[in-house]
Amino acid sequence: MAIKYNADSKTFILETRDSSYLMEISRYGNLLHLYYGDRIPDENLDYLIKIQDRGFSPNPNEAGNDRTFSLDYLAQEFSTDGKGDYRIPSIEVINGDGSRIFSGKVDGYKIYKGKYCTTGMPSLRAISEDSVQTLEIRLKDNESKAAVILYYSVFEEKNIITRAARFINEGRESIRLHKLMSVTMDFRLSDYDLVTFDGRHTMEREFTRTPVRSGVQSVQSCRGASSHQHNPFAILCERNTNEDYGRCYGYALIYSGNFIIEAEKDQYKQVRLNAGINPKSFSFVVEPGEEFQAPEVVLAYSGKGFTTLSHLYHNIFRENLCRSPYIKEPRPILINSWEAAYFDFNEEKLLQIAKDALEMGMELFVLDDGWFGKRDDDNSGLGDWKVNLNKLPNGISGLSDRIHEMGLQFGIWIEPEMVSEDSDLYRAHPDWCLKAPGRPMTRGRNQLVLDLSRKDVCDYLIDSINAILQDAKIEYVKWDMNRSISDVWSAQLPAHRQGETLHRYILGLYYIMDHVILTHPEVIFCGCSGGGGRFDAAMLYYQPQIWCSDNTDAKARLKIQYGTSFAYPVNSLEAHVSICPNHQTRRTVPIETRGIVAMDGILGYELDAFKLTKEEKDACREQIHFYKKHYHIIADGDYYRLSSPYENPYYTAWQHVSKDRKKSLVSLVLTDKESNDAQMYLRLKGLDKDAMYTVEGLEGRYSGALLMHAGLPVPGELNEYEGIQFCLEMI
Ligand code: DGJ
Repeated sequence: MAIKYNADSKTFILETRDSSYLMEISRYGNLLHLYYGDRIPDENLDYLIKIQDRGFSPNPNEAGNDRTFSLDYLAQEFSTDGKGDYRIPSIEVINGDGSRIFSGKVDGYKIYKGKYCTTGMPSLRAISEDSVQTLEIRLKDNESKAAVILYYSVFEEKNIITRAARFINEGRESIRLHKLMSVTMDFRLSDYDLVTFDGRHTMEREFTRTPVRSGVQSVQSCRGASSHQHNPFAILCERNTNEDYGRCYGYALIYSGNFIIEAEKDQYKQVRLNAGINPKSFSFVVEPGEEFQAPEVVLAYSGKGFTTLSHLYHNIFRENLCRSPYIKEPRPILINSWEAAYFDFNEEKLLQIAKDALEMGMELFVLDDGWFGKRDDDNSGLGDWKVNLNKLPNGISGLSDRIHEMGLQFGIWIEPEMVSEDSDLYRAHPDWCLKAPGRPMTRGRNQLVLDLSRKDVCDYLIDSINAILQDAKIEYVKWDMNRSISDVWSAQLPAHRQGETLHRYILGLYYIMDHVILTHPEVIFCGCSGGGGRFDAAMLYYQPQIWCSDNTDAKARLKIQYGTSFAYPVNSLEAHVSICPNHQTRRTVPIETRGIVAMDGILGYELDAFKLTKEEKDACREQIHFYKKHYHIIADGDYYRLSSPYENPYYTAWQHVSKDRKKSLVSLVLTDKESNDAQMYLRLKGLDKDAMYTVEGLEGRYSGALLMHAGLPVPGELNEYEGIQFCLEMI
């Protein structure tokens, strides 16, 4: 049994293969946190709760004269608000009488087989009913009659626990919800680091490790999307944690909108971590009888460092999150027209690129932005999803037919959530975009955002996208989103509900994706938001691959892909070989290295194949052949970060190991060349220490133990930005 309730000690015990999670109902009905960490025997953990009279820490009424019980310092599963816990709360409400108090006491629980459901939002699924168990704990505020259901699903064999929360108004007055966290987790100890993945457009998910300090620190997005700037994934770890050692806790929100991950070290040096929808600019009116669902968060614990933690996320995301059948299939090698032609193309030019791409072994031609409406640059046309016959006189279906006749698959770019002012759609429906009445509009890339909180807008988009998919043979769709949202105001919501707009936008987006992406499982959808501006677990539920960054420079990608790999599996990130000097950084890196780096994901190309030299074409052809040969080790195997681009200036290296440990691919890029440099050795990971391996290019056989402890010599003849790959095979 993964979930038990011990009625004597009033303790809930959640167990995965390697971890235990315990909580207890206090004598006054509060739900206290006991423990989350390495699996422990079934013992009474009551001794961990130390109560004492502490100054300025109020005592609840039910404690009578007992001054030792205070919610101000006790570790909890879900905080009260306005009742003497002054740390970052799990919930904030305004009740019908104007009070800002919520005091949830345990009011029942349920344990059942299978998974709970987060209505309208993506979440992990149980592959079989028996593989997952769920606990629901009901917390009730007796005065307002509001309840919160805390959900816990235990994926025992996967070492994963998910949490979510639902607010239910069972009273007679409407309640305004200002904050509802998906998870609150209290830690009694203090020496933690918070690892977050931060950045900007073209430099996403930079690894950032900060000691948790006294007071509150957070990462958040208030841009309407999960954002380039911060990712809705974080790790809380002990100070000594590294790739192979130490306790660490992961928090991955399955949500694509405004989020917050916040940590507070309190007056007693305890740490609270919260994650959920960002309360900034958020409020939701919950009428009597109505509910509000907070998104799911995926919790993972590793007592053996970051690598194990990453493997837990990679496995669960590949197997229990993504709905696309393609997550388990080799994806076609694509060529994308964006950096090859931008907006400047006609059918002849596209066919020429496609022809050369085919000769190199590419399998899918993707027509990026510029094919529809009046779209010769990024100032107009968004919203008019009808082909531009000046550029493509035979239409999309004509182009698609010719591409297919050549022997390639065909894909297309769309940006459904946006509208240009210079478009027929905007002229017909100016009220369909987010804009506040009487205020000048803020533009981003000269475009406005459609109001996806409106069902009529969503239904229009579902019909428009489905029409594109019906009109031509299309095997791949790149779904882009190219601005941060501002001027949030929906023409269909009353004034007191405007705080709901951005969450409703995200629900609208999921509604569209449910009716477009999930109804076309045969099409590969690729997520994109100016590169990796919406690289999150919710998008991965719909789309098996996400364009990792608009930055295609191989050196920069080493950092971007390194950061991305902490939570997201290799086969979810799309990576392209592009031309040099690189369009974003103007750096020149050998084409072989560009291939090595792009193979650390779903390999693709984004260049004018027609203009490549014979040598470059040969290099691409070889890369494709090599990648396809090793695809399953890369996509389905275990991933090891062998070095950090933040700590090792000389090289960045990583390793893919097949699940049976029989095959492995090691990749290394030299990032700084010194004169007369020291010999470097690369210690491998994940091999069978007792087995013998051959290493392609090296004479002899080597034990897994030797390769992991003594390592492989890094060839001294490598020049700066050159790379090398080693293929290992067990004999
Ligand atoms: C941003 C994307 O990230 C690019 O790859 C490209 O599709 C452009 N948008 C097109 O406008």
